[in-house]
Amino acid sequence: MRDWISQEADRSKAAVLEEVRGCFEDSPRRLAAFEARFDLEYERIFRLMHSLYGWRWDFSWRLIELVRVAATAAADRPKWLRRRDETMAGARWMNDPATVWAMTYTERFAGTVAGISERVEHLKGLGVTHLHLMPPYAVPDGPNDGGYAVSSYRWLRPELGDMSELKSLARSLDDQGMSLVLDFVANHTAHDHPWAEAAKRGEAPYDRFYFIFDDRAEVAGYAPHLREIFPDRVGDAFTWCPDAEGSHGGKWVWTTFYPFQWDLDYRNPAVLVAMSRELLHIANLGASVIRMDATPFLWKREGTSCENLPEAHVVLQLMNAVAALTAPSVRFLSEAIVHPDDVHRFVRPDECALGYNPLVMSLIWEAMATREAGMLAAALEQRLELPPGCQWITYIRSHDDIGWGFADEDAAALGIDPVGHRRFLNEFYAGIHEGSFARGAFFQANPRTGDARISGTLASLAGLEAAVESADPDEIEMAVKRIIAIQTLAFTTVGIPMLYLGDEVGTTNDHRFGDDTDHAGDNRWMHRPRFDAAAVAEAVADPSSPGGRILAAVRRLSAFRSSHAALGGGTPRLLDAGHPAVAAFTRAGGGEMLLVAVNVSDFTVEVDIDSGGWPWVDVEEGTGVVLRGSLAPYGVVMAEAPSPGHAEPFAPGEVG
Ligand code: GLC
Repeated sequence: MRDWISQEADRSKAAVLEEVRGCFEDSPRRLAAFEARFDLEYERIFRLMHSLYGWRWDFSWRLIELVRVAATAAADRPKWLRRRDETMAGARWMNDPATVWAMTYTERFAGTVAGISERVEHLKGLGVTHLHLMPPYAVPDGPNDGGYAVSSYRWLRPELGDMSELKSLARSLDDQGMSLVLDFVANHTAHDHPWAEAAKRGEAPYDRFYFIFDDRAEVAGYAPHLREIFPDRVGDAFTWCPDAEGSHGGKWVWTTFYPFQWDLDYRNPAVLVAMSRELLHIANLGASVIRMDATPFLWKREGTSCENLPEAHVVLQLMNAVAALTAPSVRFLSEAIVHPDDVHRFVRPDECALGYNPLVMSLIWEAMATREAGMLAAALEQRLELPPGCQWITYIRSHDDIGWGFADEDAAALGIDPVGHRRFLNEFYAGIHEGSFARGAFFQANPRTGDARISGTLASLAGLEAAVESADPDEIEMAVKRIIAIQTLAFTTVGIPMLYLGDEVGTTNDHRFGDDTDHAGDNRWMHRPRFDAAAVAEAVADPSSPGGRILAAVRRLSAFRSSHAALGGGTPRLLDAGHPAVAAFTRAGGGEMLLVAVNVSDFTVEVDIDSGGWPWVDVEEGTGVVLRGSLAPYGVVMAEAPSPGHAEPFAPGEVG
């Protein structure tokens, strides 16, 4: 017996479809395809909409509006993307070991959108299949949080080019086997977005698009419960806006991040409808993945932290359903930098099929600082399982800071004091701790809570900057090996590896980031330097230079992935390496089995890795590997089990 919601959905289904048929006036084939998808998705959309807005007088009308947004976008969807929808609906690339991501700022990487084409050869050399361009959309004058303050999704920043160039880029990348990843900043718009401007003037319906309060007293139910995301800024999450017309000469606006980023109020279904329209516009530009920015913050409720609320998931699931109606090949990526349990909850096939893995990221750094792989190993063992159809994005660092997002309880289980450990890690990577190789900086240190995060490029945090400065060849050697060990972990532990472009040639911090006054207050710009094409040319010309060795290693890892099905899906199975400085694991799948062991320390260690009885063979040399004996500082073992006679995947239990 179907529940009453399903019956309600059934009752309205035909009428809702009837309302939107007109969108497909001259395209019966598109209508037929839409109808087929509508048939599959409608009940889900109805149920989700009902759970958020079912009590409202305008529920049915908003539901129709939402479906109409999807139908309009489906009717407009370019032919080449409809073809992609047919061939790539299953998104098999998510489990293809050859999939490799890269992220960058258009202006810093190539100057303009059109300029990206000139860098494609470099991307191909790295095996990149997915290119994430940081938000290229229109922004306000002055600081714009690296594009995360969007004034309009319909225009690009003029200095980057125009929308037609972005569409052509998506198309030409597609022709070359590459896809574009674009952002959707669902939580907020810039303060000068036309909706925000209208809200300042008190115009309906936009006066209800944001959290705007006449009186500071109205935020009393929220403010004390909120985390400070950017504690460096003046004030809290609420910004006084003197140009909003109000009885007190201005109004308070909710701004979780910077004062120029106004949080949207999804309790109003008109916001969901309007934002879904923008989302589908991005899908129709040609993005194959849409990065959902700051997912935990999408719903607010008095008396809560206003993070990770169940309704935030429903908003994302609704957007997912709308995308499934219009652009079924598109997948969402969740950007949730919160407790690992909460990070997990955003990654589901009907929500965000992809999720950044900030836990593995931060624990790789943790292992390098402590010279112990215990916390990383525990996370690999316990915290990676995802539902089918989902995948992690594994990275070493992004455009953002590094936060120590491990669970306190996980640290405690290993006898580690989480608060003290985070302090140690911050001091280590800020280069304050004695014996630290790192050259990073505190980001948004909060004197009230003692919290901080870390800014810095991979090479600077991993010691190359300090080593080059000291001109000590042994230190340089160690830093290069450390970087290669780090990349090896990123490319082999789990999921899809992602590079921050520039890291592949060991780019160090930009200490002059503050020369640009719009960047001066935000030291994340330290690790967002301009792409140095000359450094790439040098790295290619001199493979024995630090940059040359790092580049060669990244290329090798990427090529290695593409021919090893075991790295395409699944999770690692941990092995006891016989030494705490060594992370050792196997990956199995596609009829093959790999073994990876990485020494995260700068000393030679004695290992005794349980071989499980397999005659492991070094992946490059083809010779047998010894799993008992010495492993050099940052030494890496990559081996495979010869598989004749083992056409089926090895059962994980067969090793270890
Ligand atoms: C995300 C972005 C970050 C930005 C924030 C606010 O966390 O990655 O760069 O500051 O959202 O949009």
